[in-house]
Amino acid sequence: MMKYPKSYLEEITQRLKVSDVVGGTVKLTKRGKEFVGLSPFTNEKTPSFTVNDEKGFYHCFSSGEHGGIFDFLVKIEKMTFGDAVRKLAAKAGMPEYRFTKQNVEQEKQEKRSGKIFELFFSYCFKNLHREENKQHLEYLLNRSIKRETIEFFQLGFCDDSDRASEHFKKLGFSEKELIETGIFYLNEQKRTLVPRFKNRIIFPIKNLFNYYIGCGGRTVLSSVPAKYINSPETIFFKKGNNLYNFHNAKKESKHSDYLLMVEGYMDVVSLFNHGIKNVCATLGTAITDNQINLAWRNFKNLVICFDGDSSGIAAAYRAAEKLIKILKPNHNVFFMIMPNGMDPDDYVNKYGTDRFYQLLDNKKNLTEFIFDYNVGSLKDFSPASLSNLEKTLIDLSDTVEDQIIKKYFKGYFKNQIFEKLIKKNKNKLNKFQISNSFDKERLNMSEIEIKEYSLCQLLIKFPEYSGKIIEQISEINFSLELTNQIKLKFVNFILDHPGLSSSQILELFQKEKIKNFDDFNKFSNKNISVAKIDLDTFVNLVDDYKRQLEDIAKRRKIEELENEFSSNMSEQAYNELISLKNSPNA
Ligand code: UTP
Ligand code: MN
Repeated sequence: MMKYPKSYLEEITQRLKVSDVVGGTVKLTKRGKEFVGLSPFTNEKTPSFTVNDEKGFYHCFSSGEHGGIFDFLVKIEKMTFGDAVRKLAAKAGMPEYRFTKQNVEQEKQEKRSGKIFELFFSYCFKNLHREENKQHLEYLLNRSIKRETIEFFQLGFCDDSDRASEHFKKLGFSEKELIETGIFYLNEQKRTLVPRFKNRIIFPIKNLFNYYIGCGGRTVLSSVPAKYINSPETIFFKKGNNLYNFHNAKKESKHSDYLLMVEGYMDVVSLFNHGIKNVCATLGTAITDNQINLAWRNFKNLVICFDGDSSGIAAAYRAAEKLIKILKPNHNVFFMIMPNGMDPDDYVNKYGTDRFYQLLDNKKNLTEFIFDYNVGSLKDFSPASLSNLEKTLIDLSDTVEDQIIKKYFKGYFKNQIFEKLIKKNKNKLNKFQISNSFDKERLNMSEIEIKEYSLCQLLIKFPEYSGKIIEQISEINFSLELTNQIKLKFVNFILDHPGLSSSQILELFQKEKIKNFDDFNKFSNKNISVAKIDLDTFVNLVDDYKRQLEDIAKRRKIEELENEFSSNMSEQAYNELISLKNSPNA
């Protein structure tokens, strides 16, 4: 019988929870970290059947039955092993495994490559400890890396000699096999194998099943162009499907509900060196969906802890844009911001673990991070800038796949724009206006009173011009009762008695006994400074006042809506507010 490769079965196991597989047959109830239910193996009344997702097995106390997802289908659903694998692979969203000649070959090659990696890394580890390479060991020790950390990560040194390739050839590995691992490449002219990572410190990389798949190499010389080089992509080394140190970090999920994701090899090594073990690194490339899902299958929460320089923060934001799409209920993402351009390694070395954990406590959640990042690039708080900001945030929220999360994010962002930007900004504006109002007399009058009185005054001063645009004037919307009455009477005076002078009109007004007309009169007496103007100037002035009045009316409406919105944070109130704010000025 053909045997399924271990890595294929492990991947299925990794992707599925036992409770999801068993739960289809047995009704399970959560109890602490486990699930319990009535045993499908016996006929019982009290539940003695338990499922543990973390450990990946079920156990029946009454019958002693014990096993994983494949066993369950074989024993309970009476499937053949092959059928169980096919069914579960499909459930896990994996392609069916085909026992082609090619697959069998590939598996053989993977095994051989794994062996070469293992031998190569132990060769490099020994090499690092040779007298002639002591500057490299010292480099690591000087960066405070402990000897046991070096051993744990199997850090090594690759020398520039034929020793390694000769060694492998003696062991019976072919040139082709050695090249396929990416550890060596062929120098076409000299027909010799060149160690790709020569003169570099070696960081071995394992996949999540604990098999070596590649490595990174760091030069300690500043003159060498690439600080790190990494294994080339091969069928078994896909950077986007792996995370450096994930196979170790995964074990920490027993004590920790979050995984730290850093950028660099050295960040992982250094945090581990300080006892922080639930940490992995993206391998120098943009974070992928596969990496995120891998992390979420094992940890509830993900903490992105990238470098605090501009490129690290930009990379974290790109990760946020990716994460927001695939966010799931019960899975969170946080962002830990390193200060002053430091990376996690710098920080933990400089300030120690306690301060690192303090910083971790202050992590931002996904939406806070996205909001703050975008506010950081806001150039001012004008309606145009704010509406741009809102568009960016709403467009981003629209990419969220989960409908409930999408709705929540939109509300959150709108609320933040209002609370953090609009409200705050409004206070600034009010203070500014008050401190600038030096005219005591006018301070008692509202802006609207001043503007509307001024406009009426202008109309009355130039009755002959008013007569020429009387239709327009009749359409002006004054908001005060007094000015509105003045307007109505004025229009009638002009239409009934064309040719009246300004003082004759004022006399007519006196006779009308309009309520509070004295207020208007007092104001006008103090503002008699309108010079002789021509018709065009007059029309322009009237238009200008009209515009100002419309602006004031709009501002008032906004304030009203803001007040309403702050007492009742409804989406509708906010939408009205923003669309009013963003409407063009009349
Ligand atoms: P960093 O430059 O932050 O490296 O790049 P580091 O891990 O902190 O190392 P030190 O502290 O300078 O020794 C972050 C990661 O980006 C990838 C590597 O995976 C590195 O760990 N990288 C960086 C490359 O692949 N190539 C490079 O030239 C640089
Ligand atoms: Mn670093």
